[in-house]
Amino acid sequence: MSVPVRKFDAVIVGAGGAGLRAAIQLSEAGLKTAVLSKVFPTRSHTVAAQGGVAASLGNSEEDHWHWHMYDTVKGSDWLGDQDAIEFMCRKANEVVVELEHYGMPFDRTDAGKIYQRPFGGHMSNFGEKPVRRSCAAADRTGHAMLHAMYQRNVKVNTQFFVEWMALDLVRDEEGAVVGVTAMEMETSEIVMFHAKAVLFATGGAGRIFHSSTNAFINTGDGVGMAARAGIPLEDMEFWQFHPTGVAGAGVLITEGVRGEGGILRNSDKERFMERYAPNAKDLASRDVVSRAMVTEINEGRGCGPNKDHVLLDITHLPPETILKRLPGIREIAIQFAGVDPIKEPIPVVPTCHYQMGGIPTNYNGEVVVPSATSKSEVVSGFYAAGECACASVHGANRLGTNSLLDLLVFGKSAGESMVDFIKSQPAAHRPLPANACDFTLSRVDRLNNQRGGANVHEARLAMQRAMQKHCGVFRFKKLLEEGVQQISEIAGQVAQTEIADKSRVFNTARLEALELDNLIEVAKATMVSANARTESRGAHVRDDAPDTTERPNGRDDQNWLKHTLWFREGNRLDYKPVNLKPLSVETIALKKRAY
Ligand code: FUM
Repeated sequence: MSVPVRKFDAVIVGAGGAGLRAAIQLSEAGLKTAVLSKVFPTRSHTVAAQGGVAASLGNSEEDHWHWHMYDTVKGSDWLGDQDAIEFMCRKANEVVVELEHYGMPFDRTDAGKIYQRPFGGHMSNFGEKPVRRSCAAADRTGHAMLHAMYQRNVKVNTQFFVEWMALDLVRDEEGAVVGVTAMEMETSEIVMFHAKAVLFATGGAGRIFHSSTNAFINTGDGVGMAARAGIPLEDMEFWQFHPTGVAGAGVLITEGVRGEGGILRNSDKERFMERYAPNAKDLASRDVVSRAMVTEINEGRGCGPNKDHVLLDITHLPPETILKRLPGIREIAIQFAGVDPIKEPIPVVPTCHYQMGGIPTNYNGEVVVPSATSKSEVVSGFYAAGECACASVHGANRLGTNSLLDLLVFGKSAGESMVDFIKSQPAAHRPLPANACDFTLSRVDRLNNQRGGANVHEARLAMQRAMQKHCGVFRFKKLLEEGVQQISEIAGQVAQTEIADKSRVFNTARLEALELDNLIEVAKATMVSANARTESRGAHVRDDAPDTTERPNGRDDQNWLKHTLWFREGNRLDYKPVNLKPLSVETIALKKRAY
């Protein structure tokens, strides 16, 4: 079968914040740039980011990028690379002001400056007290951001391929990336997108879990494609559970609610966070708050008939504040929890929200892998940014609002690196290998012809339930070991999935099967990496690695201050050291984490 070829200077997979920000850079440089997206760009999952983007603008009180850096390193439980974290925090003001110039409708202070609210783990003066650092457009910051950046892209002639799903990364004999194969979702047509440089900005894979704040499109497509193309995945054991998903529905209630003064209460109406984080209280970092909530529920102080959630209370706030600063949250609470938060508290539980690990990159957005001849090697022509990438700035736990910052900073820096790379290349594209599309065609062919295989929906549900039970907020040695076994068995089924009733198949069934191929790679990487890391750190807390004097918070810095690399080939692990050396300031020294 011959596959049509389309040629571009740059191909970006994903039209969320990172993809759109990189595309601006490339199109403004006059490069022919295609952006492929499963959904219309302004419906990408960035739309769901509610509370804001972190930047130490200091519009309402004193702030400094170095304080932001300190909070991010501490939030990461020292697993974040300090060079990348310094890079991100120093760039924050610049990218936020750029966004403002693209037309982003930030809320304003009385003095007309960008409005900023407190968020968990963001403190002034190296951990002293909460600071207003999150730049917000009410509780719809991601939504406003996508619109501003999409419009800018239209102005600079970025070419969008909407409702296209990328299927496989194509590398030539030397390992350089030369494009991607993709399917038009409406027609199933497969096209080869031939490019000088490819950026993956495909977002996270939160749909590996049963209860998730993630959109249904968050199926780890970039991460799965990278793994299949021989790229290792970094720190996949670290998943963030957002403290406030609506109980039973999983929909996100922004941490901005607590930033505006919201309080978590147990069945005794107690503000229990005072016991777990006496200084920051409800604004401690997310892993700390989520664990406190689960502990309250496990110890019988949960709310509701099943005592399975806690309450987020804003009934003490003036209704005008709720209507002005949190209008979307009020709608969500009414629609999904059946309560008006002006009058009643919202039932909430920790819900899977964010993937801290991903495709390994440096802070220029270049994909970097270990090599036999040197410590690490850039994969020529391949870039990643946003949640699918691991730069690594979030380490073992991300701070709220650093995700929007990550995608702006690293979307921009990846775009800049791609411009430099493409301009340094010969005018002609590197040739495509003769078998460029064979792998994709064989995958689709298998799906079309499989008989007697597993049902896609059932295999996906089994994977999600196994992840939820075996790799949740608290982790247990025995459950992790069993989880590795279970996910491996489910992966066997996924390799044999069948699309039911092919005579009447809608293409969405085919796409769901292809998405599951990506999800299962993420699930395998997560379970194997989590089982192997025998310490507690950030969001990865194990029963057999408790908090002791020798091991603060259960951390084992002697043996585990290192990044995990999972390789699909052989389902094996390797490790690389954390970079503790910032670019210009002194190392933020290791210590016990407390809020
Ligand atoms: O709580 C929130 O608004 C989510 C923000 C984030 O994940 O950064």
